[in-house]
Amino acid sequence: MKYNFDQIRIRKGTHSIKWDANETEEILPMWIADMDFQTFPPLAEALTQIVKQGNYGYNMVPHEVYAAIIHWWQKRHGCTVEKDWILASTGVSAAVSAIIATLTDPGDEVIIQTPAYNHFFDVVNGGKCRILENRIIYENGTYRLDFKDLERKASSHKAKILLLCNPHNPIGRAWTEAELQKVAAICARHGVYVISDEIHCDLVAHERGHISFLKIATGQNLPFVVCGAASKTFNLSGLHAAYLFISDSELRKNVERQLWAQGTGTPSLMACEALTISYTQGDEWVAELNWYIAENYRMLKAFIEKHLNQIVVVQLEATYLVWLDCSQTGMKSKDLADLLLQQEKLWVNPGAMYGAAGEGFLRINIACPRETLREGLTRLKNVLEKFC
Ligand SMILES: Cc1ncc(COP(=O)(O)O)c(C=O)c1O
Repeated sequence: MKYNFDQIRIRKGTHSIKWDANETEEILPMWIADMDFQTFPPLAEALTQIVKQGNYGYNMVPHEVYAAIIHWWQKRHGCTVEKDWILASTGVSAAVSAIIATLTDPGDEVIIQTPAYNHFFDVVNGGKCRILENRIIYENGTYRLDFKDLERKASSHKAKILLLCNPHNPIGRAWTEAELQKVAAICARHGVYVISDEIHCDLVAHERGHISFLKIATGQNLPFVVCGAASKTFNLSGLHAAYLFISDSELRKNVERQLWAQGTGTPSLMACEALTISYTQGDEWVAELNWYIAENYRMLKAFIEKHLNQIVVVQLEATYLVWLDCSQTGMKSKDLADLLLQQEKLWVNPGAMYGAAGEGFLRINIACPRETLREGLTRLKNVLEKFC
């Protein structure tokens, strides 16, 4: 390996929300989607050069950012992106809010597939829309989409958007081409716009790789909105940069106006530089990162299968967020997460945060050095052995 993912970095005291939001000593945070590795090393050097400029006035989004995005999507995902489709934003959540504001009126319905990323609930509610839950079916330790229910929900005359999470946080599914084809066809039949949040698209462990909704929509001659970012891939969330691909020029103009109205239309100077460097030079680093995460996942799975038979590990196809079925403990996910925090200072996310469909589960972040993961698993075991 060229890069050292084993190195432990002290992040406490750096205003990291992951490490500093709870001031308890010796806390081990394995919750929010934020990695503990040193990111791609040339980034620090490039950002230092910007700091040295000594002037930090308003910035524009330089041509290099668009070129880097086009290059990355072509090379990594085999998608040809036209420059005109791209809108920049300070974040994916801000971008999704802007789309909801543009495509809906208060009281309209937005479909989300639950369990779902918790801020999906916030952005839909913030847009004064009603949430329609299309629960993902959980059977024998795996998840599959409920197309019948999706068809029913999409047929509501108030349903305007399906907010697709591709790959899916928190359940770790990387949707297949066949699944996405069906989703696209159902939504097209009922005039429901699919917004595909692909922020986790580079973190796909599965051999088949990431299937972008852009490809599916293009194949079916449908308009599309795809949200992406370098922030999860390279751990740049504190810099605030994201982007959208919108094929329809009228919609793009309106969403751009809304992004500006929200004050979320321009990533910072640092964010633009970080995205450009990551996407033009970071392929090898991402390949090693995915390899390391896959090894961490194997270690977690083996540990849990050996020591904790009351937990089922849901297959991780994408992201570094492992979804643990803890229903056999008989505990509510919030109570179990609280117990882990109180007893062993282990901070993980309760599944109920992701909607009622997440009850009985925990989400644990494994993007950390192996030694940290080992410590986290030991703490998990200590609690479960004693209390469950
Ligand atoms: C699916 C998904 N979308 C969006 C976000 C947030 O993106 P941003 O920080 O760019 O708003 C996250 C963060 O975890 C996420 O998992």
